[in-house]
Amino acid sequence: MNDIHQEKVLVLDFGSQTTQLIARRVREARVYCEIHPCTMPLEEIKAFAPMGVILSGGPASVYAEGAPSVDQGIFDLGVPILGICYGMQIITHLLGGAVARGEKREYGPAKLSIQTAAGPFRELDVSEEQQVWMSHGDRIEEMPAGFSVMAVSPNSPVAAMGDTRRRFYGVQFHPEVHHTAQGAAMLASFVLGECGCRPIWTMHNFAESTVADFKRRLGGQKVLCALSGGVDSSVVALLLHKAIGSNLTAVFVDNGVLRAGEVSEVAGVFRDVFGMNLVVVDAADRFLDKLKGVTDPEKKRRIIGHTFIEVFEEEAAKVGKVDYLAQGTLYPDVIESVSFKGPSATIKSHHNVGGLPEKMRLKLVEPLRELFKDECREVGRELGLPENIVSRQPFPGPGLAIRIMGEVTRERLHTLRQADAIVQEEMRGAGLYHKVWQSFAVLAPVKTVGVMGDERTYEDIIALRIVDSVDAMTADWSRVPYELLAKMSTRIINEVQGVNRVVYDISSKPPATIEWE
Ligand code: XMP
Repeated sequence: MNDIHQEKVLVLDFGSQTTQLIARRVREARVYCEIHPCTMPLEEIKAFAPMGVILSGGPASVYAEGAPSVDQGIFDLGVPILGICYGMQIITHLLGGAVARGEKREYGPAKLSIQTAAGPFRELDVSEEQQVWMSHGDRIEEMPAGFSVMAVSPNSPVAAMGDTRRRFYGVQFHPEVHHTAQGAAMLASFVLGECGCRPIWTMHNFAESTVADFKRRLGGQKVLCALSGGVDSSVVALLLHKAIGSNLTAVFVDNGVLRAGEVSEVAGVFRDVFGMNLVVVDAADRFLDKLKGVTDPEKKRRIIGHTFIEVFEEEAAKVGKVDYLAQGTLYPDVIESVSFKGPSATIKSHHNVGGLPEKMRLKLVEPLRELFKDECREVGRELGLPENIVSRQPFPGPGLAIRIMGEVTRERLHTLRQADAIVQEEMRGAGLYHKVWQSFAVLAPVKTVGVMGDERTYEDIIALRIVDSVDAMTADWSRVPYELLAKMSTRIINEVQGVNRVVYDISSKPPATIEWE
């Protein structure tokens, strides 16, 4: 194991919506941590050898039937423990205190007065009141033996508690959310100050140790990787390129539904600047022929997904013997597959290259499995990836095909590409491209009447979709300035032939989705 993983913290998940945020705050303090379900067996916890344990919140009540719990053995590990909300209640319950069922929920901001500068409050200015975020029903009625009150809030006489001798702590509020002003500092205090972890989890260290590790493990082996131009696959490809050079073959498939200029941009960066062994496959006709006459969104996705695999396999065969397939799986996908709750219902079939590894029977290398998206971007910067790739907005695998309502034809692609390029250009010009989650154009399946000069027109509608979001699970339409919308509209109608109307999509997700298909 790399030494950057040596000093680490374990986050045990009790099903909270914000468990990932706990891990992100810990990582921001430059300490490595992993999330595991609260049911993790004690032997595995011991083998993981954490320097501290954080118990997350959760929706249950400790007295409810089947309420999630944790192996009591964690209290004998001899490392600091921090319980957050339900995590604090489970500590109380297991160590002989009493948790009262709340008659009223406390939800929202609260003022916290800290009395003891220990545990999560070690490095805080305790003379100041802290703004924290509460979200709980149950509360602590009686603390376990050895614990004392560390902080109070108007509605929570035990807003934080601790046994400083055994180094067990509990907080009723959520330090991981942004609404808790000093929350990141509290978690940093706990993992750095209390647990004594050194801040060695930096993306500079990660990049170095991953490249060194690949040099050792993959020397002489052939690795194949699909490059999409998105940040994840770009970082994967670059890490491998640095480690094994021309033993990596990166394959970029032009599926005919990419944005304007994308093929040359990707080839320019990876082949010309980085000198990567990159194969660009022009498969546009093949994809577009298969999409002929297809209007169903899921069918479009399937066709593009399957065709991609076919093309990729053919390219792989040309490379000859390949040992590994590199993939850009990120940590949230890993957590999702071991998550304490079940996976959520599938609304759209994303992850269009999902079938690749199973079909190709290749061993996988997944260098980003431990990283959150922000960390992946940081690695990209470390490796010298240009900013326009590092902070690129997400772009769906099925590309413009799911932004053209109805049939995808070359003509309609041409229309959408031009409109989309104007949207990107104007967003960048206004300094908003990086501030929003996504901004793009959609081609509607109907024509409307307009007038140009003295002529009646009957032409296409372009919809603008610009959304704010933190994780794409929920999103709201972005309140961009009217002037910007006006400029985009004027430019699109003037410059893109066949469009006489531009509309702005003002639906949020849910109930709408970000993409139109
Ligand atoms: P929705 O439309 O479900 O999108 O709100 C959420 C996020 O996922 C992206 N998206 C896709 N990405 N293949 C992908 O790789 C897909 O089929 C796909 N559909 C949606 C979308 O752009 C947004 O960021």
